[in-house]
Amino acid sequence: MKPSLCEPFDRWFVLTGAGVSAESGVPTFRSGGSALWSRYRIEELATPEGFAANPLLVWQWYVWRRELIRRAEPNPGHLALARIEEFASDFLLATQNVDGLHQRAGSRRIEELHGNIFLNRCSRCTWEGEIDESTLPPLCPECGSLVRPGVVWFGEPLPEAALRAAERAARSCRVCLVVGTSALVEPAASLPRIAKARGALLLEVNPEETPLSPLADRTYRLPAAQALPELVETLATKGRLDL
Ligand code: OAD
Ligand code: ZN
Repeated sequence: MKPSLCEPFDRWFVLTGAGVSAESGVPTFRSGGSALWSRYRIEELATPEGFAANPLLVWQWYVWRRELIRRAEPNPGHLALARIEEFASDFLLATQNVDGLHQRAGSRRIEELHGNIFLNRCSRCTWEGEIDESTLPPLCPECGSLVRPGVVWFGEPLPEAALRAAERAARSCRVCLVVGTSALVEPAASLPRIAKARGALLLEVNPEETPLSPLADRTYRLPAAQALPELVETLATKGRLDL
């Protein structure tokens, strides 16, 4: 029989994507975008090949996004997810976002599947540290090679520990909540399928239909900053969410 309600203290696994930060003013990857950068394809900006071909262009794009994210604030959707973490008996938030807004909203049990945009590391040796963003592209103080942002690009493996932890949470959760992802990029997109196959309830928050929508027990076709505070309010006041 299909379970029909979820409760605040359930074991929660949350997967987020760019949509959760949309209302903080951070553009998503596959819808909209900025006029300034839309003439470049994502392959030119977020792949090792694109970086090798034009490190200056790629760095200019990242520095532009860093500035935008520094000025952005977490929105009510980020804050609502931090509240679920407070009442859940077990909780993990896996995000594909690199903006750090979940942490700024108070989320603690979080895995960054695609890295963090504010990290810098050498593309050749093990150096990590601060760079001068006004002199691009930055070069490694240890070996002179190009420094790159600490994010995962297309074709690169995800940080292994983060992915393992997310898979573990997906396998053992009772409620899997997917927010603001087009669910097109693997392996992150498979995590909710793992949860669902193990019998978890699947909730989706996304104004648009995604490949996960047909699997969901409940879909909220609303912006995250609206749907998530309402969902948390229901959990907090009624002590349950009927599906
Ligand atoms: P996408 O840009 O592919 O998808 C954003 C999703 O958010 C879409 O499904 C939108 O419908 C939805 N959305 C838009 N506004 C929303 C709102 N206010 N509330 C809720 N949902 C909203 O972003 P991701 O799925 O995160 O990877 O993309 C996955 C990965 O592809 C990214 O992490 C990045 C990208 O290339 C790397 O850089 C490796
Ligand atoms: Zn180096």
